Amino acid sequence: MEIKQIKNLILVIIILFVVFVVIFWFGGDDNLKIKGEKEKQNSFSDSETLVDEFFGAYLKDIAPNGNIVEFNMIAEESEVEIFDGVKTKVWAYNGSVPGPQLRIKLGDTLKINFINKLPQETTVHFHGVRVPNAMDGVPGVTQDPIKPGEKFVYEFTPKDAGTFWFHPHVRTSEQVERGLFGTLVVEDDTPKQYSQDVVWVIDDWKMSEDRQVVDKFNTIMELRHDGRWGNVMTVNGKLDEVLNTKPGERIRLRLVNTSNARVYKLNFGELSSKVIAVDGMYVKKVFDVKDFELAPGNRVDLDISIPKNGNKKEYVIYDNFTRNPIKLAKIKVSGSVVKIPNFSFPINKKVPDWQGAFFEKIDKEYVLDARRKKGGSGAGMMTEPEWTINGKAYPDYDPFTLKYGEFNKIRFKNNSSRLHPMHLHGQFFKVTSRNGVPSNEQYFRDTVLVKPKEFVDIALVPLDKGTWVNHCHILEHAAAGMITAVTVE
Ligand code: C2O
Ligand code: CU
Repeated sequence: MEIKQIKNLILVIIILFVVFVVIFWFGGDDNLKIKGEKEKQNSFSDSETLVDEFFGAYLKDIAPNGNIVEFNMIAEESEVEIFDGVKTKVWAYNGSVPGPQLRIKLGDTLKINFINKLPQETTVHFHGVRVPNAMDGVPGVTQDPIKPGEKFVYEFTPKDAGTFWFHPHVRTSEQVERGLFGTLVVEDDTPKQYSQDVVWVIDDWKMSEDRQVVDKFNTIMELRHDGRWGNVMTVNGKLDEVLNTKPGERIRLRLVNTSNARVYKLNFGELSSKVIAVDGMYVKKVFDVKDFELAPGNRVDLDISIPKNGNKKEYVIYDNFTRNPIKLAKIKVSGSVVKIPNFSFPINKKVPDWQGAFFEKIDKEYVLDARRKKGGSGAGMMTEPEWTINGKAYPDYDPFTLKYGEFNKIRFKNNSSRLHPMHLHGQFFKVTSRNGVPSNEQYFRDTVLVKPKEFVDIALVPLDKGTWVNHCHILEHAAAGMITAVTVE
């Protein structure tokens, strides 16, 4: 070998060594880096993936179709006849309980010329409707209370088709119990051809012997327990509501729980009744209504098939939430068989599974609890309580910001032994787990029942900016402080 060749060989060996060292050293480091990056990217891309999975589930914005549907609505004292021959004094929208059923189409703009003729201030809140923040009807947050004799115009274009309702947000436990609530149905562009599309407003009243609304509100008993549970049940303001149907019909039945505090578990017996929508929004997969607890504020839309051979049948609908079944209403069948409407369930395939949501971090925890109210009335077993969220009773609250268009996760941790149907204004969310067990709920909600000592995780991608209250829909609990607020920005 010549010296030159040896030199070259040594050079090659050195170069190879350097290359090897570089690859080993930096490569190794690089691997670490990549691994680290990957970890970061993973958690980053996970929540990104969750957002991607969400988009298209419902509209970000609605294009108004230019059609303005106008209603005049007056809140005033009135009388209704629930019991034959007895006038019950109520407070009502346009003189009836329930108040008007407003029906519009998706894309229509709803304009409500509202007049307050009550002896108290009030507002109107459209429960579950994604409205511009200023139209949300929350005194001190989105508007000033409407004084007796004053007017207010609510105008907005709902972003979602579905079943909604409205009620005051001032002294809510009193005003709703006295009869102030109505429903809003926003129809799809091309609704499915159901034989009938019917709303059932389910309510309970606490009445005295002479069939009047007991006018002591927020009693210590109600505040300390699960709120005001009534002793008279009505569906659409009647003790014996009947839905008349024909064999073979397919009915869309929209159920709304307007009770102050009562939860229902509906039993339709042998009648096939599938839930197609929860809180206004179509589900991803239908399920039986007996598997849903209809808490105050909640709605479910049912797809009911009346059997072809059902002529002369009568189905009694019960509530099975408590130990004593309660008769709510009836579905009667008579006549000759109609042509069975044939279409698939109107569902929303784009509801995200959010399997990965379970592993995401909690952005905000809300601890739900009670304490003795400082300076409150009563003593011992009859101490006036205060219901708190993170140790604060509204109007004191723990403010929190939700990130617009991003994945957010919230935990409701119920440290008390009472029920808390938690309602978030202006947003839909999905339950991701209960007591740490992943949930298989295939739908959005705006209200979730949190049971005693339970913790429930929910997730959402907020698409509606503003400050939105988040409160227990047991109206007595809310009255005793169980309200907080989030700001979406
Ligand atoms: Cu139906 Cu703030 O509630
Ligand atoms: Cu509560």
